[in-house]
Amino acid sequence: MQPQTTLTAVAGSVARAPFGPLPEALFSFDEVAVVNKAKTVLDMGRMKGQGEKIAVLTAYDYPLARLLDLAGIDMVLVGDSVGPVVAGYDNTLPVTMDEMVYHTRAVVRGCAQALVVADLPFLSYQVDLAEARRNAGRLIKEGGAQAVKLEGGENVAATIRAIVAMDVPVVGHIGLTPQSIHRMGGYKVQGKQETQARQLLADARAVEAAGAFAIVLEGIPAALAAEITAALTIPTIGIGAGVHCDGQVLVLHDILGLCEKYSPKFVKRYADAAALISGAAADYIREVKAGTFPGEEHSF
Ligand code: KIV
Repeated sequence: MQPQTTLTAVAGSVARAPFGPLPEALFSFDEVAVVNKAKTVLDMGRMKGQGEKIAVLTAYDYPLARLLDLAGIDMVLVGDSVGPVVAGYDNTLPVTMDEMVYHTRAVVRGCAQALVVADLPFLSYQVDLAEARRNAGRLIKEGGAQAVKLEGGENVAATIRAIVAMDVPVVGHIGLTPQSIHRMGGYKVQGKQETQARQLLADARAVEAAGAFAIVLEGIPAALAAEITAALTIPTIGIGAGVHCDGQVLVLHDILGLCEKYSPKFVKRYADAAALISGAAADYIREVKAGTFPGEEHSF
């Protein structure tokens, strides 16, 4: 995947931004063509069909979403991992709809070409279908996302169907589902026993039959993920589910080395941003204390 040009990013951002005037140039044929380069849910299905892997990362704010978008990421997930990763919560359960809408808005402003999917947080879709539909709609209408994700298999099939019926695309999520942390007794690999594995296959089929356009497989054996991937026509996006999924997702702060609390086996660290940021802060503190910042060039 080639990184998109700055022109694409700027034009696309403006086209998606719900705020501010649209530039006149947007109405020229060329600019519309540029805007239309943004990825859609249809592209994800096409990629599976063509054997092209789907690269997904989480983001929670404008500047980092913009960098991922310019790097050519296919899908950006505004995960409810925002709770532990950004807000410092112990798990994802306290995250609210208002928090998800706020972060989704920021991410959408940064994405010109990537598909933006936003998580439905705990208690926003489990109580009844009307509430699930309203909250899914909020992530699209107020957040600007193009799709929503929710956790569960057969138990949420009716919910997925209800949301899809109002033309909101849905990503499913099965296996190690963080919103079920208390049932699972912690973040444990799921589907190791045969009965659990059969249930997860049934869950995956139920999610597909309900109309989801993709499904996240989290924390399950690689062989089971391969079996589910072969059984479904929709793309599987793995996290801790081996290499045979149609795509992969990781939490951005994990690959950047910004999450020091814990580092699961499935994470690969691609940078040491913690050292970079600590070093920059230490340099700044030293220069302020020494009176060497600000210099002449920073003064009026
Ligand atoms: O909330 C999240 O970030 C997620 C992904 C890790 C799949 O659900």
